[in-house]
Amino acid sequence: MEQQSVKRILLGITGGIAAYKAAELLRLLMKQGMEVQVAMTEAAGHFITPTTMQGLSGKPVFTDQWDASAPNGMAHINLSRAADAIVIAPATADFIAKLAHGLADDLLSTLCLARNCPLIVAPAMNREMWQNAATQRNIAQLLADGVRVLGPDCGMQACGEEGMGRMLEAERLAQDIAAFFQPRRFLGRKILITAGPTYEVIDAVRGITNRSSGKMGYAIARAALEQGAEVVLVSGPTALAKPHGAQGVDVVSAAQMFEVVQQQVGDCDIFIGVAAVADYRVAQPSEQKIKKSAATLTLELVPNPDILAYVAGLPKPPFCVGFAAESEDLAKHAEQKRCVKNVPLLVGNLAQQAIGSDDNELVLFDDSGSHVLPRADKLTLARLLMQHIAQRYEGASK
Ligand code: C5P
Repeated sequence: MEQQSVKRILLGITGGIAAYKAAELLRLLMKQGMEVQVAMTEAAGHFITPTTMQGLSGKPVFTDQWDASAPNGMAHINLSRAADAIVIAPATADFIAKLAHGLADDLLSTLCLARNCPLIVAPAMNREMWQNAATQRNIAQLLADGVRVLGPDCGMQACGEEGMGRMLEAERLAQDIAAFFQPRRFLGRKILITAGPTYEVIDAVRGITNRSSGKMGYAIARAALEQGAEVVLVSGPTALAKPHGAQGVDVVSAAQMFEVVQQQVGDCDIFIGVAAVADYRVAQPSEQKIKKSAATLTLELVPNPDILAYVAGLPKPPFCVGFAAESEDLAKHAEQKRCVKNVPLLVGNLAQQAIGSDDNELVLFDDSGSHVLPRADKLTLARLLMQHIAQRYEGASK
C-alpha cells in the first residue's frame, strides 16, 4: 500500500474568542499524525497563551516578526516553507481583510503572503461582522485567490447573539483539514454503500435488529466523498448524520435495502456492503401487538435476500466489497465468505471489537492474501481502505 507522507501544518491563531478552540484543534491534528507548528498574532495572545500552545505542540510558538532566534532573521520565510498548508483558525474579520488585501504587518500575515503552499482559513466573528459587505467582499476575494474557507457555522455566539459566524468545531475542522490532503482517487466514480443495521418487524411494536451503529459505513462514505466519489449511502436505522455531500436513502428492513440497491446499482462503479443485514425476517409479522400468554411463542423466520451476493452475481457487476464481522476464526470465515459471495475484496473485523465502538482493526482479504489495517479510529481506517480499494479497482478495470 502506498505510504502517505506526514503532513506539516502551520497553525496560525488570530485574536478572537474562538482561539481557545485552537488548542483542541492542535491536539486533534497531531492525533491524526500531522506535525503542527504554531504562530500567533499579538491579539491572539490575549485569548490563549503561547505557553499553552507550546506545551501541546512541543515546539516553540512564533509570535514576533522581529524574533532574533531565526538564524537568518527570516522566520516568515522559514515557517511558510516548512509547511504543507497554512491553517488560520480562528481567522478574525480583521485578519481576513488583511489577507484579502495582501497586507503584511506582523509575522502571521507576512508568512501568509510569503507562502508557497495552500492556505486554509476558518472564519470566526460576530454575525454582523460576518454579514458586513466588507467581510463578504474579502471572503469572495480569498475564494477567488484559491484560499480554502472552512465555515463559519451558525449558532449561539460568545457575545450572546445567534447567527452565522461561529468557528466550526475543532473536530469538524480537523476532519476537513485531513480531507483536504486526500488524493481525489474516485473522481467521476459512483460508489454505492450500505450501512447500519436492518430492523425486521415482529409486530406493531417489536422487531429484530442488531447492534451495528453504522459508524464504519458512514466513515467509508465520508472517505469516499473526500476522495472525489459520488456517494449513495443506503442506511438502516442509525443515530448518525449523513456525511455532507452523500445522497442518503433511509431504509428500515433488509427487503427495503435490497429494493433501493437494485434501483441504484445500475450505473455504480463500486458497491461496498457494510450493512449488518438481518439474515432472516419474520414470515408473517403481526399488524397488532402480540399479546403475552403463558404459552411459548414460536416465530417462523424466512431468509432475507443476500444483497451483496445479488450485486456480485449481476451480469456486469460493479467492483464489490463485502464485510464480515466474526466473533471467532476471522481469517477462515472471512475467506470462506469471499469465495461464497464471489467478491474480489472482503473486509474482516472482530464483532466484539467493532460493533458500536469508535475504533476498529480491519483485515483485508483478496486474491493477493490478507492485509491488516491496525487499530485506529474508523475514519482513518476508512481512508486506508478506500486507498486499497482504489488500487484493486484500477487493477480490476484494466
Ligand atoms: O451476514 P454476513 O456475514 O453474510 O455478511 C457479509 C456481507 O454480506 C456484508 O458485506 C453484508 O453487508 C452482506 N450481506 C448482504 N445481505 C445479506 C446479508 C449480508 O448484503 N442478507
